[in-house]
Amino acid sequence: METRILPFDDDAIAEASRLILAGEPVAVPTETVYGLAADATNAEAVARIYEAKRRPSFNPLIVHVRDLEAARKIGVFDDSARTLAERHWPGPLTLVVPVRKDAGIASIVTAGLPTIGLRVPAHPAMQALLRASARPLAAPSANASGSISPTRATHVLKSLGGRIRLIIDGGATERGLESTIVAATGVTLRLLRPGPLSINAEAGGSAKIEAPGQLASHYAPSKPVRLNSGSAQADEFLIGFADVDGDVSLSASGDLVEAAARLFDLLHEADASEKPRIAVAPVPESGLGAAINDRLRRAAA
Ligand code: TXA
Ligand code: MG
Repeated sequence: METRILPFDDDAIAEASRLILAGEPVAVPTETVYGLAADATNAEAVARIYEAKRRPSFNPLIVHVRDLEAARKIGVFDDSARTLAERHWPGPLTLVVPVRKDAGIASIVTAGLPTIGLRVPAHPAMQALLRASARPLAAPSANASGSISPTRATHVLKSLGGRIRLIIDGGATERGLESTIVAATGVTLRLLRPGPLSINAEAGGSAKIEAPGQLASHYAPSKPVRLNSGSAQADEFLIGFADVDGDVSLSASGDLVEAAARLFDLLHEADASEKPRIAVAPVPESGLGAAINDRLRRAAA
């Protein structure tokens, strides 16, 4: 795949928007770092983010929206969350809030969690793309898994060249550091990731730092999960893949992008079924399969 770099202007945004609506991820600058953005309502588009990054596991992704009003259609904001949003948006603040049932966000974005990270970015390129595509955009940093976050278009090209179609070049990012993440899901605000903003003081000293990316609660089914199953036993709900037919299938054609896109929905469906146990067909370890298998092993642990 050829990776084009276009300087940020109206034409570049029109092309990026066309790709986003076609389900392709696009690298775009924000005021923190470059993000690899995809339509957060399209599970396969989001799966392609993981494919491009060769990320070996699924983490919940931050969803970018144009303003607080758009954010409130996706998440539930209590008074403290709204106060922080009004003070710092647009800007380098991500708020983790309960996700609305009718939000229309693909479950791969939240990795099956009942909460969602939301951010209103200040950068004109990301803002323009949000307006042009009229979609909420899921975006992790635009680098291959394990390498450092990109603050220039050339960093993105070095890391993801040949794996994405377009990079919008907006020059060096202003902050150079990923957004501050604050959870407003309980009684007190909690600092999940330190960043460009010092929210600590504003949280009245009650904020407690958790290691970035270390999630206390990851979605796991409530039932036992058996992996690498070629067929179901009588009391099992079988999630199939490729040649292994099940009650449902991750992908009958063996497509790993489709499988990643359906994974969390099908785990929820299996959990809600009448069968007391869950079985899952073997998924190859290649490409996105590594991330799928990582998540399946956690679900089975
Ligand atoms: O500045 C930034 O935040 C950049 C730009 C592109 O916006 N994005 C970014 O995304 O740093 P990423 O994927 O590298 O980091 C997202 C982190 C995850 O590791 C996770 O810890 C946290 O956000 N996160 C997202 N949703 C969450 C949730 N529902 N609960 C807890 N943590 C969440
Ligand atoms: Mg990152």
